[in-house]
Amino acid sequence: MRNLILTISCVIIIGCSSDNSDLVDITEDVVIDDNQNNNPNLSEYFTVDFDNLSNYQNQFIPNYIDEDNTPNNNQITDEGATLGRILFYDTNLSVDNSISCASCHKQAFAFGDDNAVSTGVNGTTLRHSMRLVNARFGEEERFFWDERTSSLEAQTTMPIRDHLEMGFSGEDGAPDFNDLIEKLENVGYYPELFSNAFGTETISEARIQNALAQFIRSIQSFDSRYDEGRSVVNNDNEPFPNFTNQENLGKQLFMQPPNFNNQGIRTGGGIGCAICHNPPEFSIAENRGNNGVIGVFGSNATDFTITRSPSLRDVLGVNGQLNGAFFHDASANDLEDVLLHYNNIEVNNPNLDNRLRPGNNLQQLNMSTAEIEAVIAFLTTLTGENIYLDEKWSNPFIQP
Ligand code: HEC
Ligand code: HEC
Repeated sequence: MRNLILTISCVIIIGCSSDNSDLVDITEDVVIDDNQNNNPNLSEYFTVDFDNLSNYQNQFIPNYIDEDNTPNNNQITDEGATLGRILFYDTNLSVDNSISCASCHKQAFAFGDDNAVSTGVNGTTLRHSMRLVNARFGEEERFFWDERTSSLEAQTTMPIRDHLEMGFSGEDGAPDFNDLIEKLENVGYYPELFSNAFGTETISEARIQNALAQFIRSIQSFDSRYDEGRSVVNNDNEPFPNFTNQENLGKQLFMQPPNFNNQGIRTGGGIGCAICHNPPEFSIAENRGNNGVIGVFGSNATDFTITRSPSLRDVLGVNGQLNGAFFHDASANDLEDVLLHYNNIEVNNPNLDNRLRPGNNLQQLNMSTAEIEAVIAFLTTLTGENIYLDEKWSNPFIQP
């Protein structure tokens, strides 16, 4: 549409000053020139090749993946996700130009944070940051540890409006979201980027949400050893030919439900992780309760509201490196701590999932060291490489 308007105005201008018989050819030249004139502008700011955008919209998705929370009215496009990427890395989204989404969601740590809590414009966050890998592939459509938003779209501008995180809160005399929109309208590169993504230069909260959600949904990880194995068997319960015996044992323990005696002590079977962390996405299941982690970072208070976990894919980085602490209160320093939590749930709470209190006893999984090591070996197979390396998810700004 914008090209059309430019074309028409060019026809009029050129039509006044040159030979009408060449009109068609000249018009086409002018349209191409229009693109070429704009691109060098954007290229001053970004490493992005705007004539040949990265592929966000047609990425390979394995046929065994069937969960997808993309709404019909916000399908991923290359232009939309490119705008989302720029917004995600732009410190203009914070009141003092110091913080971007990527300050707390770092590519090197699977878009989570290696710090227990993250630094925003007015202090540190109350909870640990969440990894943003495969956020698209889950049946639960509510986001945040306590699921307080109804969709990913609705989530994406909450950190911008958060007084502590990015500061456009309108609280205590701080600027509000309208001030942000006005600010972005005056950042040279945005009108054209919004036009490329949505057809006109208008900047609105809904468009910012859609672009950020497209970018986040594009962050996908399906190049793990788990995927290599899963793609050659019929289901998760078959042994994977590329796995060691230990990894296959860990997988079986993860997948199978436990058998408990009448005191809540496990006597056999698996350890029941899959009922809440649904394979093959390893995303959180719908309608589950709390898992018994009730801490508040840096305080003795309790928090019973947590019912969501990010996907357990890339819970560790390449070579088993930690992508930060685990749980909303960063109370587990490694996967062994996580398993010891489930091994012996210590405190009851009204929101605890009933499957973790069999016969009204707090579960005791009674895991052997060999079982704990096997489950950790299995969880290590859920890590890919591409999300840490692919440039299309990296900082697009040309560094000074
Ligand atoms: C100051 C640090 C910080 C900044 C900046 C920040 N986040 Fe977060 N993010 C967090 C924390 C902490 C959580 C978990 C908060 C909670 O659940 O209460 C979170 C959670 C999320 C989630 C939920 C993931 C899930 O699976 O439920 C998404 C999505 C997200 N952030 C996207 C963004 C986007 C988009 C931006 C930029 C507009 C952003 N974040 C900026 C720290 C930050
Ligand atoms: C009843 C549902 C449920 C069961 C069963 C369950 N989990 Fe969880 N899991 C959760 C919830 C909810 C969270 C988020 C808790 C939090 O952060 O406080 C979570 C968090 C985690 C995390 C931390 C994720 C992160 O990003 O910090 C790991 C790792 C994990 N679970 C592994 C397991 C393993 C291994 C098992 C099997 C022993 C298991 N879970 C069983 C519901 C469950």
